[in-house]
Amino acid sequence: MAERVIPLIDQRVAALAARVPAQAIPTSGLLSDTLGRPLRDLRISVTDRCNFRCSYCMPKEVFNKDYPYLPHSALLTFEEITRVARQFVAHGVHKIRLTGGEPLLRKNLEVLIEQLAALRTPEGDPLDITLTTNGSLLERKAKSLKAAGLQRVTVSLDGLDDAVFRQMNDVDFPVAEVLKGIDAARDAGLGPIKVNMVVKRGTNEHEILPMARHFRGTGIVLRFIEYMDVGATNGWRMDEVLPSAEVVKLIAAQLPLIQLEPSAPGETAERWGYADGSGEIGVISSVTQAFCGDCNRARLSTEGQLYLCLFATQGHDLRSLVRGGASDEELASAIAQIWHGRGDRYSQLRSSMPPDSSTGKRRVEMSYIGG
Ligand code: GTP
Ligand code: 5AD
Ligand code: SF4
Ligand code: SF4
Repeated sequence: MAERVIPLIDQRVAALAARVPAQAIPTSGLLSDTLGRPLRDLRISVTDRCNFRCSYCMPKEVFNKDYPYLPHSALLTFEEITRVARQFVAHGVHKIRLTGGEPLLRKNLEVLIEQLAALRTPEGDPLDITLTTNGSLLERKAKSLKAAGLQRVTVSLDGLDDAVFRQMNDVDFPVAEVLKGIDAARDAGLGPIKVNMVVKRGTNEHEILPMARHFRGTGIVLRFIEYMDVGATNGWRMDEVLPSAEVVKLIAAQLPLIQLEPSAPGETAERWGYADGSGEIGVISSVTQAFCGDCNRARLSTEGQLYLCLFATQGHDLRSLVRGGASDEELASAIAQIWHGRGDRYSQLRSSMPPDSSTGKRRVEMSYIGG
């Protein structure tokens, strides 16, 4: 096997300045990018740190004690995040997902959730507020998160076998603790709960059926994610991707499945229901079946850069506007102008793009902009 080279890079120097357009762009609740895609979903990363070291996301060799995590002063404050989020909501965002790193590591996250829960869409509705977590702190936090206004959670879990799970999180974290976290989330009413499993061929594919059996009939929606070439440090190889079609085939051979209609436009997951009515699963196939066509997702990094695609190489620096005295109207106009210029559809183009090494540009890490 070829030696795996993991570059040590700092993506964050590459931010583009966000400019206030000469003419204000009023908020209308509907923005459209160059491909006619609206803006509906805002993912906010609240920390670039995590207590796990999943090799597909934060490999230990890179994310070690010398890694230059952001200093606290670089992070957007809760007030800054809420102010930025308010402009996104005025532009049509209906759903906010808090991510990380591991978002529950951010101190007093409940305070931010309370602030976001108070926002209303232009139609006067509350937002769908959710959070992606590795579940390690969920048992302790589920109740307070719910009380703060969080509606639901998505928990990452790559297997039920303790040895496999400990190997994948690479910090020897026991699976039982995550399962307790999921129970606590259910008891607190943080549903519908989703569980995300990244499938790596040769690492955890034998966990697919046990996971399906475990969550079937619980009301929890298990989703299988194709291992993606996100970031620049995980040493991604196509031969470690198990196509979703194979996942569906594997499960359907034991537990018959029927394909379901998408529940919302631009959804990441293709839905499948158990033929006996005992629930549903999803497959997220960014590698073998791109879903950029109606991608309505924007990402706000921990330090306030706006990313238009999970695979972007550059963000747009909103923090400078926020800290530089821009008015709400100016901030909203700048966001509108950036979205108007968006043409990103990385997954669709993946096959025709030159390999990373020849573009000279490095993709941003998922731990920095969130899933
Ligand atoms: P809900 O269904 O509303 O709970 O959210 P979701 O379907 O957006 O799912 P979630 O945020 O849990 O995303 C699941 C996984 O899909 C992420 O962890 C990523 O691996 C992947 N994913 C999410 N959004 C994108 C995207 O825009 N592009 C790509 N390529 N992958 C994505
Ligand atoms: N491929 C697919 N999904 C990934 N995630 C992180 N890195 C990758 C990757 N390389 C997703 C997982 C995890 C969430 C936080 O981010 O879904 O649950
Ligand atoms: Fe942490 Fe999630 Fe990344 Fe794993 S995938 S290292 S739990 S942020
Ligand atoms: Fe959206 Fe980029 Fe993912 Fe395509 S690759 S679905 S454009 S985030």
